[in-house]
Amino acid sequence: MVNGKMPPLSELSVPQHVAIIMDGNGRWAKQRGLPRQAGHRAGAENLRRVINAAVEFGIPILTIYAFSTENWDRPKLEVRALMKIFARVLNQEVYELHEQGVCIHHIGELEGVDPKLSAGVRNAIELTKDNKRLILNVAFNYGGRREILHAVRRMLEDNLPPEQLDEQTFDSYLFTNGLPDPDLVIRTSGELRISNFLIWQAAYAEFYPTPTYWPDFDRDELYKALVDYSSRNRRFGRTDAQIASQATLP
Ligand code: IPE
Ligand code: IPE
Ligand code: MG
Repeated sequence: MVNGKMPPLSELSVPQHVAIIMDGNGRWAKQRGLPRQAGHRAGAENLRRVINAAVEFGIPILTIYAFSTENWDRPKLEVRALMKIFARVLNQEVYELHEQGVCIHHIGELEGVDPKLSAGVRNAIELTKDNKRLILNVAFNYGGRREILHAVRRMLEDNLPPEQLDEQTFDSYLFTNGLPDPDLVIRTSGELRISNFLIWQAAYAEFYPTPTYWPDFDRDELYKALVDYSSRNRRFGRTDAQIASQATLP
């Protein structure tokens, strides 16, 4: 990073909600002649660094895409290794995250997940529920389409009258209920797709793709993403002139 040229944090507009598609562990490992699992381990270690950076930069909500509903289709051995890493991270990191003031949320489904792992997730949520410094929202066994289907099923079960269904009500049935939409979606490893991540919530998010593989996406890389985000002009369908006049309103 060209430190000299980076504006200070005080000049940046820090997004309220940053969401990251943590991709490229496999390629990071391959580049080093290591097994994919080694990439996943390095990716898990990197998460710690990025959480610390999010706290440092004052990001209130960080959503991380840890495991998609489609990732079950990977080779059994890789899925097993990933589950082992999640269980270890849960065991080893939760108390430290708690000390740090991190409040853990989960989006996705816990049914069908190893009972020990799902119990670990529930315990982590319960332990950290009153923490205020950072909401760490973990998308695990998460798929945007499944989330929408799950919401629709629950609306039908509640006999929700069709005329009562508006965007706000729909939002309240999603796993992300209570959380604002992401302002910034980061995807590491150079892919330019959303891969079933927050497909409803990211409707107006700013997208930041970076070629950096996830295990190398460190504090300075996150800072660069925030600098880039600060230069974006979020219009939400309006014109520049409208946005500028809004900014001058009392
Ligand atoms: C992201 O890295 C980790 C998960 C999807 C669980 P990948 O494993 O997808 O790494 P690449 O894309 O193969 O490099
Ligand atoms: C997206 O990465 C899912 C996670 C990061 C958990 P993938 O590696 O699974 O995405 P695709 O398959 O390249 O779209
Ligand atoms: Mg990938």
